[in-house]
Amino acid sequence: MNLIMKVLVATEKAFAPVAVNQIKLVTEAAGYELALLENYKNRSDLINAVENVDALIIRSDLVTAEVLDAAKKLKIVVRAGAGYENIDLAASTVHNVVVMNTPGQNANAVAELAFALMLSQARGGFNGKSGTELRRKSLGIHAFGNVGKHVAEIAKGFGMDVYTFDPFVIEKDIKKYSVKVCNTTEELYSKCQYISLHMPSNEKTNKSIGYDLLKRMPKNAVLVNTARKEVIDEGALLKIFEERPDFQYLADVAPDCIAFFKEKYMGRFIFTEKKMGANTEEANLYACLAAARQIVDFFKTGNEKFRVNK
Ligand code: 3PG
Repeated sequence: MNLIMKVLVATEKAFAPVAVNQIKLVTEAAGYELALLENYKNRSDLINAVENVDALIIRSDLVTAEVLDAAKKLKIVVRAGAGYENIDLAASTVHNVVVMNTPGQNANAVAELAFALMLSQARGGFNGKSGTELRRKSLGIHAFGNVGKHVAEIAKGFGMDVYTFDPFVIEKDIKKYSVKVCNTTEELYSKCQYISLHMPSNEKTNKSIGYDLLKRMPKNAVLVNTARKEVIDEGALLKIFEERPDFQYLADVAPDCIAFFKEKYMGRFIFTEKKMGANTEEANLYACLAAARQIVDFFKTGNEKFRVNK
């Protein structure tokens, strides 16, 4: 009987080679076998590849009930990243599969992208005309988790006036970052010219950024979304764009209604073509290293610290 654990890295959008190499080193040192399925195009490729694997490392790849049905030996899935809405948690539990994420490992990369988007917008895409600066502008960090905290630190360096709202983080922990606390989302949106979104996508947050919040933003409002496109109520966003020519939207991946933006609002948005937030060598490296170590630790000691399914 072959007892060597098999770990599969399955990524529609491949990690940087330096990061994959780290997974190789960690898993080989543990005596495991590593398989790679990178840049795959069809769901069937993933379904075929999971057949004999004990552990799976993924990014935003969809782990559906169909994938879990095909993965007869699978014991653990690690999402090398923060968001895990791409994994069917209930089906994983039914299949006795532990699901983990690697929180915080790619947070700085996402925070830096938020500033790359803001700077590019403030300088008009470097078009030769005078732009504006971030210094002394108000920035509202909507949700103060791992990415929000990095955004706060960078914003300080830019001399921005920083606010946040997050009912899940105690005021004392926010104040350590010299960030002003708002008591409601309404207050945050009313105060800040820039709003940067950092909440996960789930039943409560999806479509939660709606007209009532957006209309409160001051003149020359800039909404920055490096979280998930699902959290935006796109109908409300289009309504605001129609009503307020001063409103801009910067997002790490385009909204579903991108055709409207291209047709009517050129120059007022920046959208990445592929999700770019975590796409740095460093972020890939930290997330991959954490994922590989969590798998080895799980098999060797039963550690389930980062488990996200019940
Ligand atoms: C995350 O949830 O960690 C980020 O959105 C990164 O996702 P990606 O690994 O699919 O780029």
